[in-house]
Amino acid sequence: MTVIVQPTIAEAARVAAQKIAQAMRKKPNLVLGLATGSTPLRLYEELIRLHKETGLDFSRVTTFNLDEYLGLPPDHPASYRRFMQDNFFSKINLNPNHTFVPDGLTQDITRHCREYEALIKSCGGIDIQVLGIGSDGHIGFNEPTSSLASRTRDKALAEQTRRDNARFFASLDEVPHGCITMGIGTILESRKCLLLAFGQNKARVVAEAVEGPVTSMIPASALQFHADASFIVDEPAAANLKLRAYYDQAFANELLGS
Ligand code: PGA
Repeated sequence: MTVIVQPTIAEAARVAAQKIAQAMRKKPNLVLGLATGSTPLRLYEELIRLHKETGLDFSRVTTFNLDEYLGLPPDHPASYRRFMQDNFFSKINLNPNHTFVPDGLTQDITRHCREYEALIKSCGGIDIQVLGIGSDGHIGFNEPTSSLASRTRDKALAEQTRRDNARFFASLDEVPHGCITMGIGTILESRKCLLLAFGQNKARVVAEAVEGPVTSMIPASALQFHADASFIVDEPAAANLKLRAYYDQAFANELLGS
């Protein structure tokens, strides 16, 4: 596990965007796993800037989103398809046919999830998976006690998650109770994971995920089993990390080597 602490959200987003841009320059048909929520917004802004100012080319990139609410149509203001469309897809030169988000209106969830997994495989697997972390430690919508071997499936949302996400809806009552999410096993198969976490309300779960035991009570702790997972965090989110000096030294060495 690598931990990169940056003074501000803007700088953390820049570090993550540089890693993705570098990978895209090496492999123009990169397969990117994407996340929603407030956290990745600054990353998307930075990638849009790189597209506009340096010509970063998304034309051959394929994207797979982690999750979607069950019961929301793609054009619902709070759906994750709409979030991606408004905040990222419409602002870069991605081929719309190469953007995949689980279908929250599917009539056959089991089949849809199986097909989503098969589609990821047929594209060669995910090269870089972007992740946020819920205040309860979830990645994707894999809530605490999710199987660490889980695959794409439907899942009930934890009440904490519904409350955290109520800000995107008119009221708490409107937040769906279910979702489709890539599983933890699916996420662990991506070649690289970049988890972003900002703000003091993430400090506890970040420390538990990085320095605590691997446990399904903190699903992000499963990333300790991943060979190439980085947590990119701002100062407030790093506040509870015990080995901070070590992480800073390791990142300084990485910069020297690059
Ligand atoms: P947030 O959500 O970025 O809005 O804090 C993170 C998550 O639930 O994964």
